[in-house]
Amino acid sequence: MKSFFTITIAAINNGLLLAQTTTPATDEFNLKGYIETAIIIFAVLLAIGSWFVLSFATDKEKEKKFYCAILFSLNWIKNKISGLAPLEKENELMMKENYDGIKELNNSIPPWFNILFYGTVIFAIIYMFDFHVLKTSPLQEDEFKTEVSTANYEKELLIKSGKLLTEATVIQLKDVGALSSGKETFISKCSVCHGRLGEGLVGPNLTDNYWIHGNSIQNVFKVIRVGVPAKGMISWESQLSPQQIQEVASYVISLQGTNPPNGKKPEGQEIKSGSDSLKVTI
Ligand code: HEC
Repeated sequence: MKSFFTITIAAINNGLLLAQTTTPATDEFNLKGYIETAIIIFAVLLAIGSWFVLSFATDKEKEKKFYCAILFSLNWIKNKISGLAPLEKENELMMKENYDGIKELNNSIPPWFNILFYGTVIFAIIYMFDFHVLKTSPLQEDEFKTEVSTANYEKELLIKSGKLLTEATVIQLKDVGALSSGKETFISKCSVCHGRLGEGLVGPNLTDNYWIHGNSIQNVFKVIRVGVPAKGMISWESQLSPQQIQEVASYVISLQGTNPPNGKKPEGQEIKSGSDSLKVTI
């Protein structure tokens, strides 16, 4: 059984050697990977097959012959690819020159080298026709432009979907349309706690210059999005889209200084509009 493992390892080694010598250095279509995998699968199948055959063979002589046949065929393939002359013919190939006792064999150029060399020439021709003559594949610059325009398109989609609208990117809206839809949201969702005019009920007065969490669009957006659950201000993230939060936040900011009747007494610190120095933690 020991010899069985030796041959298995020899087979795998031979396989890997073949993989290294036959494939060019390019990773086109991951050819090298495919060949390596195929050879490893072949070696494993061979090992399983030999084990199967040998488990029926009782004759020691037969077993030996079997191993020899496998080794012989693997060596034959290896020699074909490396182009080396068999050992017994080395004498004929010996060159006359003798440099300080170093002798050379006049071996021909190994086939794997020629394959590699002609392979690069063929590759270059195909490449030239593909990229420069027929222009079927895009050059680096065109590829870059396509990628940039795809990325821009995806970015636009993301902005439209509201996924990019966060405290980091939000801006205060001032157009009438946005403010009136902000007002609608405010009346239906927020007025129960902040009053119809933002004068404050359970929640603080949103019309004065006093703020607990700041009055910049970033801070207001965030307080509406995540809420302050411990103090009774719920998170609106699951009920309002980022655009709706942006609109209602812009509307809240526009309420400053409107001074409605029955205003709740100020809470928080005084912050003039546009001078919010409270940091937003994003
Ligand atoms: C259930 C009651 C309740 C509802 C509904 C509610 N809020 Fe509030 N809100 C509060 C409370 C209470 C606070 C104070 C939180 C604190 O003390 O930190 C608050 C705080 C705020 C603040 C921060 C004020 C500051 O001084 O910094 C803003 C802005 C705000 N709410 C906007 C809204 C908006 C917009 C809505 C509707 C989408 C809304 N709230 C709905 C109770 C509510």
